[in-house]
Amino acid sequence: MQKPAPSDYPVHELIRERWSPRAFAEKPVPKNVLRSLFEAARWAPSSYNEQPWAYLIAAKDDKDGFEKMLGVLVEFNAGWAKSAPVLAIAVAKLAFATNNAPNRNAQYDTGAATAFLCLEATAHGLAVHQMAGFDPEKARQVCGIPAGWDAIAALAIGYPGDPASLPQPLKDREMAPRTRKPIAEFVMAGHWGHTASFASK
Ligand SMILES: Cc1cc2nc3c(=O)[nH]c(=O)nc-3n(C[C@H](O)[C@H](O)[C@H](O)COP(=O)(O)O)c2cc1C
Repeated sequence: MQKPAPSDYPVHELIRERWSPRAFAEKPVPKNVLRSLFEAARWAPSSYNEQPWAYLIAAKDDKDGFEKMLGVLVEFNAGWAKSAPVLAIAVAKLAFATNNAPNRNAQYDTGAATAFLCLEATAHGLAVHQMAGFDPEKARQVCGIPAGWDAIAALAIGYPGDPASLPQPLKDREMAPRTRKPIAEFVMAGHWGHTASFASK
């Protein structure tokens, strides 16, 4: 299923086509495609080019690894994410490697890298559903995440599937229209609350 963004203004088709399904097809993700997803993350910009991100990944053919990662998700997410062929956890290094000073953009940069990954995934006909609903401390224990690194988000990666495979409340959410705030609500002309003139229709 596709669910293009009904954008108010023209956007690149990768932006329009990316979305977060909960139904995934059984098809595995080829290794060369996985390489491209993480290569895309690699080329994201970051503060001081620190590249503070890391990803833990478990594909379904690694039964134990997959179950382990699934067990880190909250019950609601595990319920649908189990159908994804690949799970991942995005992790951020909280201090700069050179001087150990706190990197206040570590999570921001990790999010940017993951956004690149999501768009690359879209270009391959894949979908990525990011999740805050997981237990970061459990992820630390189960996956051996070292001190100084924080798990930021879990990801379900795969080819979009048939919404009919989902239980009823999720089926409805899968089919619901996509909504966003208008740009006039969050683009301000230099002073808080002053909507930029170009942003108003
Ligand atoms: C950081 C982050 C955390 C999210 N956490 C969850 C989650 O725990 N469970 C879930 O079902 N969706 C989660 N989502 C998906 C959002 O609900 C989804 O991106 C949003 O509704 C917009 O839909 P779209 O991605 O299809 O445009 C998360 C998305 C992001 C970026």
